[in-house]
Amino acid sequence: MSTAAGGRTADLSVQVGPIALKNPVIAASGTFGYGIEFEDVLHLDKLGGLVVKGLSKEPMIGNPPPRLYETAAGMLNAIGLQNIGARAFLEEKLPGLRKLKDVVVFANVFGYTREDYERTIQILEEGEGIAAYELNVSCPNTTHGGIQFGSDPRSLDEVVVKARKATQRPLIVKLSPNVTSIAQMARVAQEAGADAISLVNTFLAMAIDPETRKPRIANVTAGLSGPAIKPIALRMVYDAAKAVKIPVIGMGGISTASDIVEFLLAGASAVEVGTASYWDPRATEKLVEELSRWCVEHRVERVTDLIGGLQME
Ligand SMILES: Cc1cc2nc3c(=O)[nH]c(=O)nc-3n(C[C@H](O)[C@H](O)[C@H](O)COP(=O)(O)O)c2cc1C
Repeated sequence: MSTAAGGRTADLSVQVGPIALKNPVIAASGTFGYGIEFEDVLHLDKLGGLVVKGLSKEPMIGNPPPRLYETAAGMLNAIGLQNIGARAFLEEKLPGLRKLKDVVVFANVFGYTREDYERTIQILEEGEGIAAYELNVSCPNTTHGGIQFGSDPRSLDEVVVKARKATQRPLIVKLSPNVTSIAQMARVAQEAGADAISLVNTFLAMAIDPETRKPRIANVTAGLSGPAIKPIALRMVYDAAKAVKIPVIGMGGISTASDIVEFLLAGASAVEVGTASYWDPRATEKLVEELSRWCVEHRVERVTDLIGGLQME
């Protein structure tokens, strides 16, 4: 329960398949470090959950700079999945995260091959306190792997089947928006054994400096995120939610409580918030408070009443 103005309360708790969250706001992967670094900036225990930076079996240094560029209502990034590696995560970050009360910790997993995903999960299986894996099959910023898994139905099936066999923990498949039919990819993930899907990752994009005639990002192409992508992300969440029975976690440009409500109405059971944390590191915590107020003001007693509640007439 969450208290808002006038002492009235709204029940913000949601269920994503087997995972219970005290509210639907989850910090998105790659925009919230390994979570624990935000300990001094906001009250981590206010969040429904957090997804850590994409982890691979070995540490990765990522792409050369410049790797970030602000665009109209959005941001381009080509970080290239820089991370400390799954084993260092278990040793250096997870113990701190385990101390958090009622905050669901998701490990985002990335690999260049199916075996990389399997190996990374095998390492993470040793870590207590990971509630679920989010499989990143959709990063546009690497030269090989990642995006191919997310944009080819057969490769997607194979990588999810492999990951499914590697763990009993819930598996969330994070879909790429860089596809023709998001409904088809959602169905493939479901049939391959996903417990839930999350979407969207960033849109393949680029920017050029007209003065130097050079790309703004060293990698040339990059992923677009932030409010600029919200209407497209919302449409994709709507299409995906209609196509599958498993729960959907929606994201893409969320920066206000009413954005969250839109995603819930489109069929998402929870949301992730990414780029908003770059503009305000406390954005996720503030969104929980704002959503609670929104529900009270709109006489919504349970946030779950909003899920899939789009009115067609
Ligand atoms: C700087 C940056 C790094 C990201 N790193 C990852 C990552 O490691 N794994 C992943 O699955 N998504 C990653 N993403 C994608 C976000 O989790 C999210 O899907 C996307 O940014 C859309 O949400 P937003 O508009 O709220 O940021 C990253 C996004 C940004 C901006």
